[in-house]
Amino acid sequence: MKTAIVYESTHHQNTLKLVQAIREKFPVDTIDVTETESADLTGYDLIGFAAGIAYGKFYPAIEKFAARCLPAGKRVFFLYTCGRDSQSYLSSMRETAARKDCQVLGAYSCRGFDTFGPFKLVGGINKGRPNEEDIAGAVRFFEKLR
Ligand SMILES: Cc1cc2nc3c(=O)[nH]c(=O)nc-3n(C[C@H](O)[C@H](O)[C@H](O)COP(=O)(O)O)c2cc1C
Repeated sequence: MKTAIVYESTHHQNTLKLVQAIREKFPVDTIDVTETESADLTGYDLIGFAAGIAYGKFYPAIEKFAARCLPAGKRVFFLYTCGRDSQSYLSSMRETAARKDCQVLGAYSCRGFDTFGPFKLVGGINKGRPNEEDIAGAVRFFEKLR
């Protein structure tokens, strides 16, 4: 099954740690949306979107990338890291997938080191996250999807 993971991990590269661990174990192509504005994803059977969360949503560039580049009818999954989890973080990406008749196979999330806003004053929250267990969880999640 040909797989791509599209990612944006700009705050502390927290989400990138999950993507890297998956990439080390499985043959997946990865696309960093900070380096490319669009890509042809038609040749992939499974497409993952991975990002940190800002203001309750996936980062803006990956949201736009998904809206522009996700082909219809694909199988998709989501990975994210965040300061404090909420299922609502996926609403907009799920809507994009639904608009394109894509099937969402699942989502994996964990906490990530966060120095946004007031958290910076206290040296950040979730130090050391994602940790080894978080990362192993992402790999297990991906393994079950395939
Ligand atoms: C501008 C900004 C806004 C953020 N907003 C949220 C938020 O709404 N909810 C949350 O749980 N975390 C929020 N965070 C924390 C990040 O989602 C978290 O640190 C994440 O692990 C960063 O992932 P990355 O290093 O892969 O970019 C925010 C961080 C930044 C920089």
